[in-house]
Amino acid sequence: MSVTVKMVFEGQTLELPVIFGSEGERAIDISELRRKTGLITMDPGLANTGTCTSSITFMDGEKGILRYRGIPIEQLARQATFKETAYLLINGELPTRKELNRFSVLLNDRSLVHEDMQGFFQNYPRASHPMGILSAMINALRSFYPELQTLKEEINMTVTRLLSKVRTLAAMSYKISRGHKVVYPRSDLAYCANFLNMMFDSPVRPYEIDEDVVKALRIFWILHADHEQNCSTSTVRIVGSSRANLYAAISSGMAALWGPLHGGANQAVIEMLNQIKERGAKVSWALEKAKDKNDPFRLMGFGHRVYKTFDPRAKIIKKVCHQILKKRKLSDPLLDIAMALEEAALKEDYFMERHLYPNVDFYSGIVLRAIGIPTNMFTVMFAIGRLPGWIAQWEESIHDPNWKLCRPRQIYTGPKAKEYVPIDERG
Ligand code: CMC
Repeated sequence: MSVTVKMVFEGQTLELPVIFGSEGERAIDISELRRKTGLITMDPGLANTGTCTSSITFMDGEKGILRYRGIPIEQLARQATFKETAYLLINGELPTRKELNRFSVLLNDRSLVHEDMQGFFQNYPRASHPMGILSAMINALRSFYPELQTLKEEINMTVTRLLSKVRTLAAMSYKISRGHKVVYPRSDLAYCANFLNMMFDSPVRPYEIDEDVVKALRIFWILHADHEQNCSTSTVRIVGSSRANLYAAISSGMAALWGPLHGGANQAVIEMLNQIKERGAKVSWALEKAKDKNDPFRLMGFGHRVYKTFDPRAKIIKKVCHQILKKRKLSDPLLDIAMALEEAALKEDYFMERHLYPNVDFYSGIVLRAIGIPTNMFTVMFAIGRLPGWIAQWEESIHDPNWKLCRPRQIYTGPKAKEYVPIDERG
C-alpha cells in the first residue's frame, strides 16, 4: 500500500508519495509539486532535502551510526585495508582475494604520473597551498589522459588511474610546494606505505616504513572514505550531472572540501589549538568566543550537520591518537589541550543544547602530526581518503535513471521590471 502526505493549498488537495529507505528513512516526493501547484520548496543549506536515493553509505545522526555498503565503520577500521574499503565502496561488495590482487596490480600499473605533468607543476608558485595544487592537478589529468567516459572499461580505467595517481599527485604537490625533488611510487610497497615513502623519502634521509604509522594512516583513510551527501560529494554529483568529465567533478569536490567548515576543519582545529596554547592553554578563551553570538569564531572540530551525538569516527580516531603517540613515544601538548577543551565543552549548556560533539576532525590533526604530516597537507589527506566515496557516488549518479541535471530554483527578491537608463541620463 502506498503511503502519501496530503497537502492543502488554495483549496486544492495534493497527495505526495512517501519514499522509504531500507533503514526506514522517509522522504516526501515533491517532484510533481511545482507542476501541479506552482510552488517550490525553500531549504537553505538543503538540511531537509534529499537529492537522491543511494545504496552506498548509511548514517544515523541520532544514534551515531556509519556503515559503508552495510558494514559498520568500526569493523572496517579494525579489519579492512584501505584498498579493500575503496573496492567495497566502488563495487558494492568486498573483493575476493583474486579480485583484490587484480585491483592491486592495476593500481600499481597506473601509479606513475606523466613526466610533462610534473614539469608543468614544477612552475607553480612555491607558497601555493597543496590543496590548490592537487585540485588543479586532478583537473589537468583530463588533458594528460583523455579517456572516453561512456564505455564501462574506460570508466574502470579512469577510476583506477585516479585512485592510484591521487597518492602520487598529493605527495608530488607537497614536494613541489617545498621545492624538493619528487619521489616516484614503488611497486613493492602497499597503498599507504607507498604514499608515506613518496612524502618523506629524501636523497639525504631515506624513509623507514613504520607499521604503526601505516596502521594509523590506514584507519584515518578508511574513516574518511565516504560520508553520503556531504558538501563535497554533493558537489561531485552536481558537477557530474552536467556530464562534465570525472576528473573535473572530483577536482570540484576537492575545492568544496577545502573550506574550513568541511574538510579544511582538520587544519583549522590545529590552528585553533595552537592559539589556545599561545594563551597559556586556557580553553575558556575558546569556549567564550564560540558562545559569543557577536563573534564569528566557532569551535573547530565540533558540531555536525547530521550527527547529533558523538561522531562514530571521532571515537575511533581519538583511540588511534592515543595509540600512535604512545607507540612513537611522543607527547603532544595539543592533545592535552584538545582533551581539556572537549571535557569543558561537554559540560556547557550551549554545546549540549545544540547537540555539538567532537567530529572526526577534532582529533585527526593530532594523529596526522604524530605521523609527520605537515599541517597544510591535512585536507589533502582527507581528500585522498574521500576519493573512493566521490567515485562511487559519481558512478551511482551517472547510472541512476532518475538522476537529472542539477538545477535548483529560487525565490526572486530583487527589483520589479524597470526601464534601462542610458548612461548620460543617470544621476
Ligand atoms: N561552535 C560554536 N557554535 C556552533 C558550532 C561550533 N563549532 N557549530 C554549530 N554551532 C551553533 C551555531 O552557531 C548555531 O547556533 P544557534 O542555533 O544559536 O544559531 C547552532 O549551533 C546550529 O548550527 P548550524 O550552523 O545551524 O548547524 P550546521 O548543521 O549548519 O553546521 C557545521 C554544521 C559542521 C558547519 C558546524 O557545526 C560548524 O561550523 N562546525 C565547525 C567546523 C567543523 O568542525 N567542520 C567539520 C565537520 S565534520 C567533517 C566533514 O565531514 O566535513
